[in-house]
Amino acid sequence: IIESKIVDNIRHEVRKFPDEFQFGAATASYQVEGAWNEDGKSESIWDHITHENPCYVLDCSNGDIADDSYHLYKRDVEMMRELGLDFYRFSLSWTRILPTSFPDKINEAGVQYYNNLIDEMLKYNIKPMVTLYHWDLPQKLQEMGGWTNPNIIDWYSDYARVVFELFGDRVKDWITINEPYQVCYNGYGDKSLAPILNIKGVADYMCAKNLLLAHAKAYHIYDEEFRPTQGGSIFISLSAQWYDAEFEEFAVVAQEANDFFWAVYSHPIFSASGDFPKSVKDAVATKSIEQGYPRSRLPEFTEEEIAYVRGSSDYFGLNHYSTLYVYRNESTLNYYESPSFNDDHGIITYTYDEWRIGESLKTKFVPWGFTKLLAKIREDYGNPPVIITENGFATHGGLNDEDRVTYYKHYIGAMLDAMEDGSDVRRYTAWSIMDNFEWTAGYTERYGLYEVDYESPERTRTPRKSAFVYKQILRTRELDM
Ligand code: BG6
Repeated sequence: IIESKIVDNIRHEVRKFPDEFQFGAATASYQVEGAWNEDGKSESIWDHITHENPCYVLDCSNGDIADDSYHLYKRDVEMMRELGLDFYRFSLSWTRILPTSFPDKINEAGVQYYNNLIDEMLKYNIKPMVTLYHWDLPQKLQEMGGWTNPNIIDWYSDYARVVFELFGDRVKDWITINEPYQVCYNGYGDKSLAPILNIKGVADYMCAKNLLLAHAKAYHIYDEEFRPTQGGSIFISLSAQWYDAEFEEFAVVAQEANDFFWAVYSHPIFSASGDFPKSVKDAVATKSIEQGYPRSRLPEFTEEEIAYVRGSSDYFGLNHYSTLYVYRNESTLNYYESPSFNDDHGIITYTYDEWRIGESLKTKFVPWGFTKLLAKIREDYGNPPVIITENGFATHGGLNDEDRVTYYKHYIGAMLDAMEDGSDVRRYTAWSIMDNFEWTAGYTERYGLYEVDYESPERTRTPRKSAFVYKQILRTRELDM
């Protein structure tokens, strides 16, 4: 069934992209920069966790040196040129720019690094798309509660104002925050990402509300104080896998899975009504009261806050990797620790081994899920303009990455299917331009179009087969299946 679905969904011919369509590739500061304590940079939660617990990451590695992009940015720009990228998405390290975490001391050397990178890119007409926050929170702010402390709305938006001032003359595309679900659920409600707070079903929800308000505040600051003169765009990047029901009886569960796993962040921003999805509000409130809490563990937005967050993103920035099937029944109801986010939704996810291709690690190959996800965004949110801010495939490495080539071609094809059905997708970003430090897997998982040799002090970067294929797509503006 799966195979025929895949085949049905992909039309095997040469397909053209709209003239204005743009292609890019992405990285994030902690994953590539290295130079973790150079030139005045202070400690982030990732520096902290990997130093405090040297085997927190699968291969006991860290991002102290990573791809050494802090020193090798010119080679990075050369790769962007080799690929023919229209834009490059990278993130700023908060602690490199503001080592005290606050705008009282701007670190000139850190600013210089980003100026050099941006100017080098612009020399070759490669547009910077800049993420303000890709998970490397200042450790000092974490010690004051991080994203669970409502003061972070000011801490983050003060930082945002500084970077708009510093780089906004040249940067015209800003991403406020990368993947709120991972930030809040994995970092605060669980222990799979820094700061591993693991206060389940409470801290994750506090984080969600504060993060959405912080994002909205940065949006409004840009919109009111900078856009009139700088004239750029600002948006959020949400991670959304597609959750589907293999069996009709679980159709409602699939809807709830999409609500819990990503619409918690998209609904307040993109829906006409704003606020968290009703299914999530109802489920968490009911559980909380049953458990003896005086109110829902999910904080409420005031009417004013709902209006403030609603519409606060120029694009739907979408990070998508794969698809999962879902179910829920009596036997699964006590499956999760209670209270917790997982207990609140009670949903079990599963995938099939047939969905693996080649060396596929965890990323399953389900391109039709991408088409369905884009259709859902189009239908639920009045067809907002979409930028795919991440899509990619992990292997163990090697230059002949046929499996990654298959993944990219079919996922880009699935995106084109959605566009033919009416989705307004404007740009596509490959994750990643090169191998980098993976948050939980270290250097055992490789996402790069370019392979990075971590044995060599130069961190030699070599194009994989997928780099040549991506380059061909960008040059011809065609997808040849
Ligand atoms: C996204 C992140 O979750 O996916 C990236 O924004 C990350 O930073 C990528 O590298 C792949 O992640 P993973 O660890 O889930 O394979």
